Amino acid sequence: MPANPIRSTRLAQDPPPKHSPLVPTVVVASYKGGVGKTALTVAIAERLAWAGLRVLLLTCDSQEDARHRLGVQASDPVVARRTYGSDGSVTVLGIRGSKAVDLLYRIGPDRLGLGSFDLAVVDTPPEVQGGSLPGVLLFTPVDGTDAARNLLTMLQRTPGNTDIMLIRTGREDPADWAHNAATIERVLGRDLDFLEDPLPISKQIKQAHDAGRSVWTLPRSGITLEYLSSIDRLAQTAWERVHPRRSWPSMPSQSAAAAYVPGWDDDE
Ligand SMILES: Nc1ncnc2c1ncn2[C@@H]1O[C@H](COP(=O)(O)OP(=O)(O)OP(=O)(O)O)[C@@H](O)[C@H]1O
Ligand SMILES: [Mg+2]
Repeated sequence: MPANPIRSTRLAQDPPPKHSPLVPTVVVASYKGGVGKTALTVAIAERLAWAGLRVLLLTCDSQEDARHRLGVQASDPVVARRTYGSDGSVTVLGIRGSKAVDLLYRIGPDRLGLGSFDLAVVDTPPEVQGGSLPGVLLFTPVDGTDAARNLLTMLQRTPGNTDIMLIRTGREDPADWAHNAATIERVLGRDLDFLEDPLPISKQIKQAHDAGRSVWTLPRSGITLEYLSSIDRLAQTAWERVHPRRSWPSMPSQSAAAAYVPGWDDDE
């Protein structure tokens, strides 16, 4: 069966999973470093918050650079929350290894006193176990230099009840990319989805990410608009896990997005 581009196909329904997180969860993982995992995690979390969701962003990377990318200062609380519009929020928490697994599968954020969330988004360090959580939506960015063997090594450990979505970063002919995704699917021997349009790379996007400035405040034209449209599509796929029958709220205008900095609260 050919790999599914998400432009035209909904995610396949899996049989009831053995283990699922207590909150619908998106994991961003790749075996390779520096492919844009954290950038993707933060942009998707913010888009989902703009759609009105209460998002828990777990940064499992010892750098915890998702905090900085969200504009959190080193002096801000360990659990920091930013609000988006009237209902949405992103709460960022640094947590690693088995503690993250306990939080997601055994305890849940409520019982830990973190509050209630609609969705968790997990940023992972580059490691082979990055794609090993069951019952989640797995976004795997792939750049052109990624050794196929590394990608396959990680995805071979991905449980059957996790949905895999491949995301090509940087330039590649869309037909070649579709062909490569189909090859990865065939070698893995399981269905997967892929983002049809490769995620573009630009200096403005890099500067915004590295300065901790929301990419949603950038002028929406040219390459930036292509990038944001792809992020929007990925965030919608995550939204469908939380609200399968509700329509996807459109993004506020750029001027609304630019004014969003209400500060941080201690989550206690
Ligand atoms: N679409 C993009 N266009 C331009 N630069 C980007 C884009 N996405 C990410 N970057 C930049 O590439 C660099 C690596 O991105 P990022 O830190 O998100 O990767 P990572 O996979 O999380 O890295 P690590 O493996 O170290 O955690 C950063 O400087 C980031 O700003
Ligand atoms: Mg990272």
